[in-house]
Amino acid sequence: MKSAKTGIIIALAVAVLAVGGWYIGRQGAKPAAAPAVVEQPAPAAGKNLLRATYDPIHFRPAIETATDEQCLACHREVLDDKVRETSPAGVKASNSKAWYQQLSTYTGEQDTFHRRHLVTGMAKELMNLSCNTCHQGSDPRDEAQGTSATGTPQTDNGFTLRKTVNTETTCLKCHAPMNAAVMGLPGPWPESKEMFGDSCLTCHAAIRTNRHQVTYLKAEAIEAAGQKNADVCYGCHGGRSWYRIEYPYPRHPWEGMAPEVPDWAKNRPVASEARFALPTSGNQPKQ
Ligand code: HEC
Ligand code: HEC
Ligand code: HEC
Ligand code: HEC
Ligand code: HEC
Repeated sequence: MKSAKTGIIIALAVAVLAVGGWYIGRQGAKPAAAPAVVEQPAPAAGKNLLRATYDPIHFRPAIETATDEQCLACHREVLDDKVRETSPAGVKASNSKAWYQQLSTYTGEQDTFHRRHLVTGMAKELMNLSCNTCHQGSDPRDEAQGTSATGTPQTDNGFTLRKTVNTETTCLKCHAPMNAAVMGLPGPWPESKEMFGDSCLTCHAAIRTNRHQVTYLKAEAIEAAGQKNADVCYGCHGGRSWYRIEYPYPRHPWEGMAPEVPDWAKNRPVASEARFALPTSGNQPKQ
């Protein structure tokens, strides 16, 4: 009796081991469901979806120094995808221009959001955006900070609830309305531009001249293009505004600036965000 019982137990144990071995063999050496394995080396693209989703490159600090090539190794579709030429209902994309596509600077075919900021004509001429200019994190767990002990902490506002970027610190820089009141303009730019010869430089050749010294903009190209067409300047400073709030631009000192600070500017920074400082610009913020 005793040995028969032992025999059954041994047989069961062998069966469990065999099934377990088969299971582990199918799953690879480690169980697959182990999220947030931050200290693992980055897996090659396409090998394991879960590991790629939780790749440390999506989190700080790795995302801060990631190159576009690293991101594009897995996310090529971001630049490869194109919009349909014709909608399923038969409307041609070329016939349906939106209000923000009416400025004189708008050229080329309809294109995706990512391509319009990274690879199309104007983007390349005036800007130098990278993936991590906008994307400062992506926590796939629930895309909200501070909701679990292992999640991204609440203090990290590089991306905000259910958005993969913080729009107020990125988009708003180039898509806020024009602050006509601060400039002493009698009305919105489209109504008052004739009065100033349709050029921002009528005033800005001498006011706030220390501008665009940041890694993601091509300052010289912007000045050259703005001299030929004020819509270049207006485009980023009101002409394509998605928001009704203004962006609090840093107020860099300029030559001939009055020493007293106007009330509206009392809380303004006097230098660009540190993470965009040019190595040679000499206007890194004092810390
Ligand atoms: C090893 C491959 C890999 C690399 C490298 C990588 N990603 Fe990802 N990423 C993924 C996968 C896989 C997902 C999850 C996709 C899904 O759930 O459909 C993801 C998700 C995302 C998401 C969220 C997408 C959504 O629809 O919610 C963003 C944003 C993102 N990645 C941006 C980046 C950026 C920016 C970089 C570079 C700093 C980067 N990724 C590098 C594989 C990668
Ligand atoms: C101008 C800012 C900006 C830049 C630059 C940018 N992105 Fe995005 N990206 C966004 C926004 C905004 C979304 C949509 C976010 C949302 O829906 O919450 C997005 C969405 C995504 C997604 C989700 C899937 C999709 O296509 O909608 C991925 C993946 C992604 N970006 C990767 C990248 C990579 C890789 C780069 C660099 C080659 C890049 N992004 C550059 C702002 C940017
Ligand atoms: C550094 C300046 C800059 C930043 C930051 C920026 N944009 Fe733009 N955006 C532009 C410029 C310039 C254009 C016009 C491109 C063109 O006409 O070719 C544009 C165009 C657009 C368009 C229209 C694209 C089209 O197909 O016509 C959308 C939508 C848009 N931006 C949304 C956003 C969002 C959302 C963000 C933040 C995630 C953002 N932008 C951040 C400069 C910027
Ligand atoms: C009538 C002269 C005048 C014209 C024309 C003018 N500006 Fe200004 N602008 C000003 C003054 C004055 C200030 C505030 C200077 C200061 O900081 O004390 C200013 C400030 C700005 C700022 C910073 C706003 C802030 O909140 O810090 C931007 C951006 C700007 N102008 C862009 C433009 C653009 C783009 C155009 C053309 C579409 C333009 N301006 C046309 C006079 C002008
Ligand atoms: C591609 C988008 C883009 C274009 C085009 C553009 N700007 Fe700007 N501008 C910005 C951004 C972004 C900032 C804030 C940069 C920073 O944080 O220092 C800025 C800042 C400024 C400021 C504030 C300067 C300060 O004190 O730091 C002024 C004034 C200004 N721009 C005027 C202009 C004028 C005039 C033109 C045309 C010659 C122009 N901009 C074209 C995006 C643009």
